[in-house]
Amino acid sequence: MAEMGYWEMRAALEWQLAMGVDEAILPKPVDRTVAVAKPDPVAPKSEMAAPSVDAVAVSRSLAEQASSLDALKVAMEGYDLCELKLGARQLVFADGQPKARVMIIGEAPGRDEDLQGKPFVGRAGQLLDLMFSHIGLSRISPDGEHALYITNVLPWRPPQNRDPKPEEMAMMLPFLTRHIELIDPDLIVAMGNHACHALLGKRGITRLRGTWAEAFGKPVLPMFHPAYLLRTPEAKREAWADLLNLKSRLRPQ
Ligand code: URA
Repeated sequence: MAEMGYWEMRAALEWQLAMGVDEAILPKPVDRTVAVAKPDPVAPKSEMAAPSVDAVAVSRSLAEQASSLDALKVAMEGYDLCELKLGARQLVFADGQPKARVMIIGEAPGRDEDLQGKPFVGRAGQLLDLMFSHIGLSRISPDGEHALYITNVLPWRPPQNRDPKPEEMAMMLPFLTRHIELIDPDLIVAMGNHACHALLGKRGITRLRGTWAEAFGKPVLPMFHPAYLLRTPEAKREAWADLLNLKSRLRPQ
């Protein structure tokens, strides 16, 4: 094959990116032409097998001991029982003002968030910022009255942005619960189906959105996820109604 020049290689890379190939999954290429011995499907159990660890009990215990946001972040960084950690570049903890009256909870970091270490910084995050600016709220406001605090159910990017698995959400929920306790917001916004599932135990965002619910003693407003709004612009009308609903609930204190 003739050697490729710079522009051809660049075009080939851009084509792959457009097809969704945006990361190398393994550090080394796999030679699939080499036969690999299959493990014995009924291998006898070793008497020395490690005792199974209760991932939820461990995260609950770590979360309960965290007495500050910094301590919670350190506890989450040290938690090794969630496989997502292995494929992610870094933990995405939170962004915004801890004194904010409104806490937004999304699903999980995507590619941009994984790179930058902050939640909602990609296209969906830009739309989120724009939406909340229309009701006078921002993650960069120093004043709690006009501020936002933003985090996700999962702090690590799922590979290829796949949906979170129920067991991943279950093992990270104690950390989220402690996060909510430490921030102690007046109101929570659950962004999309996965956040609603984690916080309210319910799915069906089209039915849930716009109706106040309660989780961890806090009022929760389910809203359409901004990534959904990017794909479905006609749903912005409902999102706007939900923003006005949130604003009217935020009477000045
Ligand atoms: N979607 C989310 O739910 N969270 C992010 O941080 C980014 C995109």
